[in-house]
Amino acid sequence: MVIFLGIQSFIAETRARQDEKGNMIGGYKHTKVSSNLIAFIVHILTDDTVPLNPMKEYHTRHSKSPIPFHTDEFGDILAFQTRSAAIRGGNCILSPVYTIYNELVVSRPDVIWTLSEPDWPLHLPHYHQRALLFYEDSHIIFNAAPNALLGSKAHPRPTTIPSISPRQLEALTLVQGLAEKHKISFSAQKGDMHFFNNLALVHRRDATEVGPGGKRHLVRMYLRNEGMAWKIPMMLNTTTGWEEAYRQGEDVEQVWHIEPMPDVFLPLIRKPN
Ligand SMILES: [Fe+2]
Repeated sequence: MVIFLGIQSFIAETRARQDEKGNMIGGYKHTKVSSNLIAFIVHILTDDTVPLNPMKEYHTRHSKSPIPFHTDEFGDILAFQTRSAAIRGGNCILSPVYTIYNELVVSRPDVIWTLSEPDWPLHLPHYHQRALLFYEDSHIIFNAAPNALLGSKAHPRPTTIPSISPRQLEALTLVQGLAEKHKISFSAQKGDMHFFNNLALVHRRDATEVGPGGKRHLVRMYLRNEGMAWKIPMMLNTTTGWEEAYRQGEDVEQVWHIEPMPDVFLPLIRKPN
């Protein structure tokens, strides 16, 4: 862990707060553990207890199921340390937004406009509308997760909010297809660290097989390099609280969950990211 933190300081030195309940922005204000507690580490843990707890199977951080291409809701640089690898699968799969964008410009420029319109009905953690694709300070930025647009077992979509339109569904499907076309995949082994730009790459995970007593265990942190950080579009910042996550007040307590916290202490939330 010390080496992980040390290498981070050369890549992206500022850490965003997260909490174990998945309430990433302002979550520390709502946690039952403390009213002034912030946490920087989230454990992504899939083990052989998943079949015993259906909630875990629905929860993306603990599930053995594959996850479609997405960006995390916020975080400039996503940092992962692999503590234990799956027997099979669980690979990290990345795809470049710029390549997807360039291919859409040539083949389906109308989809660029669809993705850029501020009318995508997201539901994470609450219903709001915004664009998925941005052009900010000479950067193309994409931010979306299918679960926030389509719902999932862990994150059911209320019938009282609008569904995405057929045109938006087509755009989302095209992005998934192009991401698959241009993907790179790697299986992180125990001790590996990987860092990637959450503004310019989409990522997914394939199905995970852990075996009896085995586990896939990654430690996730959200980082920023203050000197090289991209400007966050205002619409994205106001709907996610992106910038706020990097600001820590003087009266808050920093907690470092070096090991996963027991579920009884910090139970899984009903609407995880
Ligand atoms: Fe993710």
